[in-house]
Formats: sequence, structure tokens, C-alpha cells
Amino acid sequence: MSLTLNIWRQRDRTKKGKMVTYHVTDVSPDMSFLEMLDVLNEKLILSDDDPIAFDHDCREGICGSCGVMIDGIAHGPEQTAVCQLHMRSFKDGDVLDIEPWRSGGFPVVKDLAVDRSAFDRIISAAGFISAPTGTAPDAHATPVPKGDSDAAFDAATCIGCGACVAACPNGSAMLFTAAKVAHLGLMPQGQPERDTRVLKMVAQQDAEDFGGCSNIGECSAVCPKGISMETISRLNHDLLGALRAGAVPTS
Ligand code: SF4
Ligand code: FES
Repeated sequence: MSLTLNIWRQRDRTKKGKMVTYHVTDVSPDMSFLEMLDVLNEKLILSDDDPIAFDHDCREGICGSCGVMIDGIAHGPEQTAVCQLHMRSFKDGDVLDIEPWRSGGFPVVKDLAVDRSAFDRIISAAGFISAPTGTAPDAHATPVPKGDSDAAFDAATCIGCGACVAACPNGSAMLFTAAKVAHLGLMPQGQPERDTRVLKMVAQQDAEDFGGCSNIGECSAVCPKGISMETISRLNHDLLGALRAGAVPTS
């Protein structure tokens, strides 16, 4: 396959960026999208050009490092992390626009790589439980209803990629925050700090440069882990409950 790629190039967050057109040939349908970018980068390096910066790590859909907009869709045409997207999803002769995540909360570091430390700060605010770990507890020492454990597991599959933010017209981080609040709030171990956790995490989300959620649903539509809009309902339920209970976050 031969493709024309219009790729966002930006030297750093202070410089203006622009789309630059590249042509790639001999692309195998079995290559991943990132491998296709690797091939382009090898050519750029051999011709003493600056390679295109993009984030990646596991390349197995589990770390959440990767992510670009392809023709305006976060992670591209399949509902998967872009490292799991293969070139067989495209046709010979396609022209693709490749851009970084679009959000004020994710400033561009370089080219297609963005700074997602805002997510780390939301987790640091309260996305954990405070408990002495001790030795490993006996299996089934803390019974958990099957429905709760399944829902908690589903929420915990969020890989923190940021596609939800990039897809949202408001640039909202609500689906990510909701997934992190839900996976702890559904488990018995998460109950003691349930109210203060949701208040602190939502406050940190609001302090970052993200927009508000207006239930559009683009986030869930592109989420590679299929985190549902119901997770946001659960967050709102917990948030209202904490506010009604008059919970006060402690540092
Ligand atoms: S909710 Fe989905 S799209 Fe958003 S960060 Fe988690 S895995 Fe990525
Ligand atoms: S590189 Fe780890 S999820 Fe894509």
C-alpha cells in the first residue's frame, strides 16, 4: 500500500505547528499503525530529517501511552488503542490526517506527543485507598458481590490513554475520572474514603484545563476499553451523595 500522510509537526509547546505531507510506500496491511510511523521515521532519519515524535510503550493496548487523531477520530477507525490498529483498516491510496490529542488539558510536547500529566494529578489527588497492605489476605476473606466486582473490573480496565478527552467537544476528562472513582468506590476496600475521594478527584479535574461533561457520549464511543457512560452516572451519584453528606476532603 502507498499512503499520503498529513502529519502535525510542532517543535515544542511554545512554537506554532503545521501539517506536513509525507508519502509512504510498501506499507504492509499487517503492520500496526505505529510500525508504519516507524518506517517513515527511519526514512526521515536516513535523510537527516527530524523524526516524528509520538508516544508509545507496550504496543499491546495496555499501557495507555499511545494515541493520535486519525482523520479526526481518536485512535482512528477501530475502537482500539492506536498501537493495536493495523494498516489493513486502510486502503491503498488513502490520504490520512494525523494530529495529536486536541485538548487544552493536554498541551503538545512535540509533534504527536502530548503532556498527559493532568491525569496523574487527578489520580494523585485521591485515586487510591489508604490501608496498611500487610501480608496477602486469604482468598475470599472479603466477599464482594459478583455484579460489583465485574463492574469494578470493567472500570479498572481504563488505561488512561486520554482518547475520551480528545474526542469530547468540551475536552472533558469525566469518563477517565469516573472510571477511576468507580473502580475503587465499588469495592469494600474503597468505602472508607469514598466520599472524600470523589470530591478531591473532581476538584482536581476541574482545576486542570478540561471542559465540563454534557453527556454527548463521544468519549465512550472511542474508548478502547469500552468504558460506558453509566460510569459517569455512577460518578455523579457518588458526587451528589458526598455533597449531601457534607463530606469535607482532608489533605
Ligand atoms: S476512559 Fe477510555 S478513553 Fe478515557 S482514558 Fe480511560 S481507556 Fe482511555
Ligand atoms: S503503546 Fe501501550 S497502549 Fe498503545
